[in-house]
Amino acid sequence: MTGEARDPYDAADSRAVPHPVLKKYYERESERRPFVNALFDNAAEHYDFVCGLGSLGSGRPYRRWALQQSGLRVGMKFLDVATGTGMIAQGAARILHKPGAVVGLDPSGGMLREARKTLAVPLVQGTVEELPFADGHFDFLCMGYALRHVADLGVAFRECLRVLKPGGRVLILEITLPRSPLGQRFFRVYFESVLPRITRLSTGSAKAELLMKYYWDTIANCVAAETILGVLKSSGFGGIEHRVRGGLLSEYIGVKPGG
Ligand SMILES: C[S@@+](CC[C@H](N)C(=O)[O-])C[C@H]1O[C@@H](n2cnc3c(N)ncnc32)[C@H](O)[C@@H]1O
Repeated sequence: MTGEARDPYDAADSRAVPHPVLKKYYERESERRPFVNALFDNAAEHYDFVCGLGSLGSGRPYRRWALQQSGLRVGMKFLDVATGTGMIAQGAARILHKPGAVVGLDPSGGMLREARKTLAVPLVQGTVEELPFADGHFDFLCMGYALRHVADLGVAFRECLRVLKPGGRVLILEITLPRSPLGQRFFRVYFESVLPRITRLSTGSAKAELLMKYYWDTIANCVAAETILGVLKSSGFGGIEHRVRGGLLSEYIGVKPGG
Protein backbone atom coordinates (compact mmCIF):
# COMPACT_ATOMS: atom_id res chain seq x y z
CA MET A 1 0.00 0.00 0.00
CA THR A 2 1.31 3.44 -0.87
CA GLY A 3 -0.90 5.36 1.53
CA GLU A 4 -1.81 7.82 -1.26
CA ALA A 5 -5.26 8.61 -2.62
CA ARG A 6 -5.57 6.91 -5.99
CA ASP A 7 -7.81 6.89 -8.98
CA PRO A 8 -9.68 3.57 -8.87
CA TYR A 9 -9.65 3.51 -12.65
CA ASP A 10 -5.89 3.98 -12.93
CA ALA A 11 -4.77 1.31 -15.38
CA ALA A 12 -1.21 1.49 -14.06
CA ASP A 13 -2.48 0.27 -10.68
CA SER A 14 -3.13 -3.45 -10.66
CA ARG A 15 -5.28 -3.15 -7.53
CA ALA A 16 -9.02 -2.69 -7.90
CA VAL A 17 -10.09 -0.48 -5.01
CA PRO A 18 -13.85 0.04 -4.67
CA HIS A 19 -13.46 3.75 -3.96
CA PRO A 20 -10.62 6.23 -3.44
CA VAL A 21 -9.40 7.27 0.01
CA LEU A 22 -12.14 9.35 1.66
CA LYS A 23 -10.15 12.05 3.41
CA LYS A 24 -13.19 13.23 5.35
CA TYR A 25 -12.84 10.02 7.39
CA TYR A 26 -9.23 8.81 7.15
CA GLU A 27 -6.00 10.07 5.61
CA ARG A 28 -4.60 7.06 3.85
CA GLU A 29 -5.58 3.64 2.48
CA SER A 30 -3.91 1.80 5.37
CA GLU A 31 -6.34 3.52 7.77
CA ARG A 32 -9.43 2.34 5.95
CA ARG A 33 -9.76 -1.10 7.56
CA PRO A 34 -9.36 0.05 11.21
CA PHE A 35 -11.76 2.91 10.49
CA VAL A 36 -14.40 0.59 8.99
CA ASN A 37 -14.01 -1.96 11.79
CA ALA A 38 -14.48 0.70 14.47
CA LEU A 39 -17.41 2.18 12.54
CA PHE A 40 -19.32 -1.13 12.55
CA ASP A 41 -18.23 -2.11 16.06
CA ASN A 42 -19.50 1.21 17.43
CA ALA A 43 -22.83 1.27 15.59
CA ALA A 44 -23.61 -2.46 15.69
CA GLU A 45 -26.40 -2.18 18.28
CA HIS A 46 -28.27 0.25 15.99
CA TYR A 47 -27.59 -1.51 12.66
CA ASP A 48 -30.84 -3.48 12.32
CA PHE A 49 -32.99 -0.52 13.33
CA VAL A 50 -31.23 1.87 10.94
CA CYS A 51 -31.34 -0.67 8.14
CA GLY A 52 -35.09 -1.10 8.64
CA LEU A 53 -35.45 2.67 8.55
CA GLY A 54 -33.46 3.06 5.33
CA SER A 55 -35.24 0.22 3.53
CA LEU A 56 -38.70 0.93 5.00
CA GLY A 57 -38.74 -2.58 6.39
CA SER A 58 -38.05 -4.31 3.08
CA GLY A 59 -34.42 -5.23 3.83
CA ARG A 60 -34.93 -8.70 5.29
CA PRO A 61 -37.58 -10.00 2.86
CA TYR A 62 -35.62 -8.58 -0.08
CA ARG A 63 -32.42 -10.36 0.97
CA ARG A 64 -34.22 -13.71 1.27
CA TRP A 65 -36.01 -13.18 -2.04
CA ALA A 66 -32.73 -12.29 -3.81
CA LEU A 67 -31.12 -15.51 -2.52
CA GLN A 68 -34.03 -17.57 -3.84
CA GLN A 69 -34.07 -15.78 -7.20
CA SER A 70 -30.34 -16.38 -7.55
CA GLY A 71 -30.63 -20.13 -7.11
CA LEU A 72 -30.09 -20.94 -3.41
CA ARG A 73 -31.66 -24.37 -2.90
CA VAL A 74 -32.10 -27.00 -0.18
CA GLY A 75 -29.01 -29.20 0.12
CA MET A 76 -26.49 -26.44 -0.57
CA LYS A 77 -23.69 -25.26 1.74
CA PHE A 78 -23.88 -21.49 2.13
CA LEU A 79 -21.35 -18.85 3.20
CA ASP A 80 -22.48 -15.34 4.16
CA VAL A 81 -19.41 -13.13 3.83
CA ALA A 82 -19.72 -9.83 5.75
CA THR A 83 -22.68 -11.29 7.61
CA GLY A 84 -22.94 -8.28 9.95
CA THR A 85 -25.93 -8.85 12.21
CA GLY A 86 -26.82 -11.89 10.13
CA MET A 87 -29.78 -10.80 8.01
CA ILE A 88 -28.64 -12.73 4.92
CA ALA A 89 -27.56 -15.78 6.94
CA GLN A 90 -30.98 -15.83 8.58
CA GLY A 91 -32.72 -15.71 5.20
CA ALA A 92 -30.49 -18.52 3.92
CA ALA A 93 -31.17 -20.71 6.98
CA ARG A 94 -34.90 -20.34 6.34
CA ILE A 95 -34.53 -21.36 2.69
CA LEU A 96 -32.21 -24.29 3.45
CA HIS A 97 -34.21 -25.43 6.53
CA LYS A 98 -30.88 -26.26 8.12
CA PRO A 99 -28.91 -23.74 10.21
CA GLY A 100 -25.84 -26.03 10.07
CA ALA A 101 -25.61 -25.52 6.30
CA VAL A 102 -24.99 -21.80 6.80
CA VAL A 103 -21.79 -20.10 7.97
CA GLY A 104 -21.48 -16.36 8.63
CA LEU A 105 -18.20 -14.42 8.55
CA ASP A 106 -17.42 -10.83 9.53
CA PRO A 107 -14.40 -8.90 10.86
CA SER A 108 -16.43 -6.81 13.31
CA GLY A 109 -16.73 -8.31 16.79
CA GLY A 110 -19.58 -5.88 17.55
CA MET A 111 -21.61 -6.98 14.53
CA LEU A 112 -20.99 -10.66 15.32
CA ARG A 113 -22.12 -10.08 18.90
CA GLU A 114 -25.41 -8.70 17.60
CA ALA A 115 -25.75 -11.62 15.16
CA ARG A 116 -25.32 -14.12 17.99
CA LYS A 117 -28.41 -12.72 19.74
CA THR A 118 -30.74 -14.09 17.05
CA LEU A 119 -28.74 -16.52 14.91
CA ALA A 120 -28.01 -20.17 15.60
CA VAL A 121 -25.52 -20.66 12.74
CA PRO A 122 -21.71 -20.90 13.07
CA LEU A 123 -20.17 -17.39 13.03
CA VAL A 124 -16.51 -16.78 12.27
CA GLN A 125 -14.43 -13.61 12.64
CA GLY A 126 -12.45 -12.87 9.47
CA THR A 127 -12.27 -10.91 6.24
CA VAL A 128 -13.16 -11.72 2.66
CA GLU A 129 -9.54 -11.17 1.67
CA GLU A 130 -8.46 -14.20 3.74
CA LEU A 131 -11.33 -16.64 4.09
CA PRO A 132 -10.53 -19.29 6.71
CA PHE A 133 -12.08 -22.15 4.70
CA ALA A 134 -10.78 -24.96 2.51
CA ASP A 135 -10.86 -24.76 -1.29
CA GLY A 136 -14.13 -25.85 -2.92
CA HIS A 137 -16.15 -25.97 0.31
CA PHE A 138 -19.34 -24.02 -0.46
CA ASP A 139 -22.09 -24.23 -3.11
CA PHE A 140 -23.24 -20.65 -2.69
CA LEU A 141 -21.59 -17.53 -1.31
CA CYS A 142 -23.24 -14.17 -0.73
CA MET A 143 -21.59 -10.87 0.19
CA GLY A 144 -24.16 -8.20 0.99
CA TYR A 145 -23.43 -4.47 1.07
CA ALA A 146 -19.76 -4.93 1.91
CA LEU A 147 -18.10 -4.62 -1.48
CA ARG A 148 -17.45 -0.91 -0.76
CA HIS A 149 -15.43 -1.88 2.31
CA VAL A 150 -12.94 -4.36 0.87
CA ALA A 151 -9.35 -3.33 0.20
CA ASP A 152 -9.16 -4.86 -3.28
CA LEU A 153 -12.03 -6.28 -5.32
CA GLY A 154 -9.75 -8.69 -7.18
CA VAL A 155 -8.31 -10.20 -3.99
CA ALA A 156 -11.82 -10.48 -2.52
CA PHE A 157 -13.38 -12.11 -5.59
CA ARG A 158 -10.51 -14.59 -6.03
CA GLU A 159 -10.94 -15.70 -2.41
CA CYS A 160 -14.68 -16.15 -3.02
CA LEU A 161 -13.89 -18.23 -6.11
CA ARG A 162 -11.40 -20.36 -4.20
CA VAL A 163 -13.83 -21.47 -1.47
CA LEU A 164 -16.63 -22.27 -3.93
CA LYS A 165 -17.11 -25.73 -5.46
CA PRO A 166 -16.93 -25.93 -9.27
CA GLY A 167 -20.37 -24.78 -10.43
CA GLY A 168 -20.79 -22.81 -7.17
CA ARG A 169 -22.31 -19.38 -7.27
CA VAL A 170 -21.46 -15.97 -5.86
CA LEU A 171 -24.12 -13.31 -5.25
CA ILE A 172 -22.96 -9.78 -4.47
CA LEU A 173 -25.66 -7.41 -3.24
CA GLU A 174 -24.87 -3.72 -3.45
CA ILE A 175 -26.42 -0.30 -3.77
CA THR A 176 -25.96 1.39 -7.15
CA LEU A 177 -26.70 5.03 -7.81
CA PRO A 178 -29.68 5.51 -10.13
CA ARG A 179 -28.66 6.39 -13.69
CA SER A 180 -31.00 9.36 -14.10
CA PRO A 181 -29.76 12.76 -12.79
CA LEU A 182 -33.15 13.29 -11.11
CA GLY A 183 -32.93 9.91 -9.34
CA GLN A 184 -29.37 10.72 -8.29
CA ARG A 185 -30.42 14.08 -6.86
CA PHE A 186 -33.26 12.49 -4.92
CA PHE A 187 -31.07 9.77 -3.42
CA ARG A 188 -28.30 12.24 -2.62
CA VAL A 189 -30.67 14.35 -0.52
CA TYR A 190 -32.21 11.28 1.11
CA PHE A 191 -29.02 9.36 1.90
CA GLU A 192 -26.72 12.31 2.57
CA SER A 193 -28.98 14.52 4.68
CA VAL A 194 -32.35 13.00 5.57
CA LEU A 195 -31.34 9.49 6.64
CA PRO A 196 -28.35 10.49 8.85
CA ARG A 197 -30.54 13.08 10.61
CA ILE A 198 -33.43 10.70 11.17
CA THR A 199 -30.90 8.14 12.40
CA ARG A 200 -29.46 10.60 14.93
CA LEU A 201 -32.89 11.68 16.13
CA SER A 202 -34.28 8.18 16.50
CA THR A 203 -31.23 6.46 18.02
CA GLY A 204 -29.59 9.42 19.80
CA SER A 205 -26.29 7.94 18.58
CA ALA A 206 -23.62 10.03 16.82
CA LYS A 207 -21.93 6.75 15.86
CA ALA A 208 -25.01 5.48 14.04
CA GLU A 209 -25.26 8.86 12.28
CA LEU A 210 -21.61 8.55 11.21
CA LEU A 211 -22.33 5.08 9.83
CA MET A 212 -25.08 6.51 7.63
CA LYS A 213 -22.92 9.42 6.45
CA TYR A 214 -20.13 7.04 5.50
CA TYR A 215 -22.70 4.81 3.81
CA TRP A 216 -23.63 7.61 1.45
CA ASP A 217 -20.05 8.72 0.75
CA THR A 218 -18.96 5.19 -0.18
CA ILE A 219 -21.97 4.75 -2.48
CA ALA A 220 -21.37 8.11 -4.17
CA ASN A 221 -17.67 7.30 -4.72
CA CYS A 222 -17.98 3.61 -5.60
CA VAL A 223 -16.59 2.34 -8.91
CA ALA A 224 -19.11 1.75 -11.70
CA ALA A 225 -21.00 -1.52 -12.10
CA GLU A 226 -18.98 -2.20 -15.28
CA THR A 227 -15.76 -2.17 -13.24
CA ILE A 228 -17.20 -4.64 -10.73
CA LEU A 229 -18.34 -6.94 -13.55
CA GLY A 230 -14.90 -6.66 -15.19
CA VAL A 231 -13.12 -7.64 -11.97
CA LEU A 232 -15.52 -10.59 -11.42
CA LYS A 233 -14.60 -11.81 -14.90
CA SER A 234 -10.86 -11.27 -14.54
CA SER A 235 -10.99 -13.07 -11.17
CA GLY A 236 -12.15 -16.23 -12.95
CA PHE A 237 -15.94 -16.21 -12.65
CA GLY A 238 -18.14 -17.16 -15.60
CA GLY A 239 -21.92 -16.88 -16.16
CA ILE A 240 -21.78 -13.29 -14.99
CA GLU A 241 -25.06 -11.43 -14.65
CA HIS A 242 -26.03 -8.03 -13.28
CA ARG A 243 -29.59 -7.18 -12.29
CA VAL A 244 -30.75 -3.85 -10.89
CA ARG A 245 -34.01 -3.69 -8.92
CA GLY A 246 -35.84 -0.41 -8.56
CA GLY A 247 -32.89 1.45 -10.11
CA LEU A 248 -30.97 1.06 -6.84
CA LEU A 249 -30.46 -2.54 -5.70
CA SER A 250 -27.73 -4.31 -7.64
CA GLU A 251 -27.30 -8.09 -7.77
CA TYR A 252 -24.03 -9.32 -9.29
CA ILE A 253 -23.88 -13.05 -9.98
CA GLY A 254 -20.95 -15.21 -11.02
CA VAL A 255 -20.45 -18.96 -11.39
CA LYS A 256 -17.24 -20.88 -10.73
CA PRO A 257 -16.37 -22.72 -13.94
CA GLY A 258 -16.13 -26.50 -14.05
CA GLY A 259 -19.39 -27.62 -12.47
C1 LIG B 1 -23.35 -2.78 5.66
S1 LIG B 1 -22.85 -4.18 6.58
C2 LIG B 1 -23.73 -5.49 5.76
C3 LIG B 1 -24.12 -6.59 6.68
C4 LIG B 1 -25.00 -7.68 6.05
N1 LIG B 1 -24.34 -8.34 4.96
C5 LIG B 1 -26.35 -7.16 5.60
O1 LIG B 1 -26.75 -7.46 4.48
O2 LIG B 1 -27.00 -6.47 6.39
C6 LIG B 1 -21.22 -4.41 6.00
C7 LIG B 1 -20.44 -5.46 6.77
O3 LIG B 1 -19.22 -5.71 6.07
C8 LIG B 1 -18.25 -6.02 7.03
N2 LIG B 1 -16.91 -5.88 6.41
C9 LIG B 1 -16.17 -4.77 6.31
N3 LIG B 1 -15.00 -5.05 5.72
C10 LIG B 1 -15.01 -6.38 5.43
C11 LIG B 1 -14.06 -7.28 4.84
N4 LIG B 1 -12.88 -6.84 4.41
N5 LIG B 1 -14.40 -8.58 4.73
C12 LIG B 1 -15.60 -9.02 5.16
N6 LIG B 1 -16.53 -8.22 5.74
C13 LIG B 1 -16.23 -6.92 5.87
C14 LIG B 1 -18.54 -5.05 8.17
O4 LIG B 1 -17.96 -5.44 9.41
C15 LIG B 1 -20.07 -5.06 8.19
O5 LIG B 1 -20.58 -6.00 9.11
